Amino acid sequence: MLDQDLILTLCRFLHYGPFFLVGGSVRDLLLDGVIRDYDFLLEGDVFALGRELGTVLKGEVSINSDFLTVSIVTGRYNIDIARARKEVYEKPAALPKVSPASWQEDLARRDFTVNAMAMPVRKRDWGPLIDPFGGERDLRQKMIRYLHKGSFRDDPTRILRAIRFKNRLGFTIEEGTLASLRKDWPYLTQVSPARRFHEWKLLCEETRISACLNDIYELGGWPFLFINVSFQRENTEEISAFQDFPNTRKIRLWFIYLLFLLKTQPDKLPALSNYWGISKRDEQELAHTLSVLTLVKTGPGLPERKIYHALRDLPPEGIYFCYYHLRERAGSWQEFYEKVQAAELPLTGKDLIRAGFKEGPEIGRLLITIKEAFFHGKFTTREEGLAYLRHYIERGK
Ligand code: CTP
Repeated sequence: MLDQDLILTLCRFLHYGPFFLVGGSVRDLLLDGVIRDYDFLLEGDVFALGRELGTVLKGEVSINSDFLTVSIVTGRYNIDIARARKEVYEKPAALPKVSPASWQEDLARRDFTVNAMAMPVRKRDWGPLIDPFGGERDLRQKMIRYLHKGSFRDDPTRILRAIRFKNRLGFTIEEGTLASLRKDWPYLTQVSPARRFHEWKLLCEETRISACLNDIYELGGWPFLFINVSFQRENTEEISAFQDFPNTRKIRLWFIYLLFLLKTQPDKLPALSNYWGISKRDEQELAHTLSVLTLVKTGPGLPERKIYHALRDLPPEGIYFCYYHLRERAGSWQEFYEKVQAAELPLTGKDLIRAGFKEGPEIGRLLITIKEAFFHGKFTTREEGLAYLRHYIERGK
């Protein structure tokens, strides 16, 4: 589908130099006629064009001068424009040295034939197709094929891209590409932790994430992405089942899916966290959720209030993950979430002091008693709590 408004706007910028629709945009346009994100390539001053186009489209412009790219986000479009460049990989898996080059060289530095096609921006449409590596043929044959043997060594994250495209598009990985892929997994240990983590987040956005995870395992890559976490098919199947569960849109899927992988092996979290550079805060929240899950799964014997209280300090994803495990006996998500929010102890140590109890270690002991009584539904309000405590002390005398 051609967006005539965008085409009309873009052709005002043709004087900047050769200007193309490129990469995933061309692939998706040829495949199903829909462009989700717009990728453009310019052999010219990308920053000047980006600023001017951003003003015309009233979009938010971000410039990355190291990578010679500009992105423009508007309510209607997500646009990335890259300066035509060549990339030199000084050692395997290192970030490339980027320098301006011709648009032909730019197509040649890309990952797969189906992503190395371009269509010039013209007055009324895109086209004709520029396809130096046989991308259109590979699209027809549903094939993921690299451009050269060193592609995965240069950028090992492309291995995961190949697996994502294979499952997303229902393609096959071409034989030679597959042979390199199987052999080049170890290079993934040489990319930065942040890039590995980013690849995990991208995998989590795929509808067929479980199939991707099974492929990673079957093609020999599991330990290079997940190090000491063992592959457990039940866990990847659970991720797939979870995808049918009503979801909230803003939830961080990478967090939830990781919990599924770790729930039977929580002790593997610290090493993985280090390998991916997960922030301390996220790591703590993951660990906390895993330990609360063990508690809430203890069984129906556990007082409801104790469950809600234990969940209070978790992030929304942690609460949702536990809710998923309790779904047979918990009501609606909305109700459940409200109960968690309301599960505050109605009285604190300060209330006890104010009510005349003596400050000191005894207060801590009384609070434990109070907490247990509250979880077992012995009282609800602060006043009832204080009365309960007085009665409890009286009885003990
Ligand atoms: N690219 C590459 N090697 C990479 C990442 C990207 O060669 N490691 C190239 C590909 O030509 C790709 C383009 O840069 O098509 C844009 O990258 P990106 O937006 O990440 O990928 P898309 O192909 O658009 O994939 P998606 O549909 O997942 O956004």
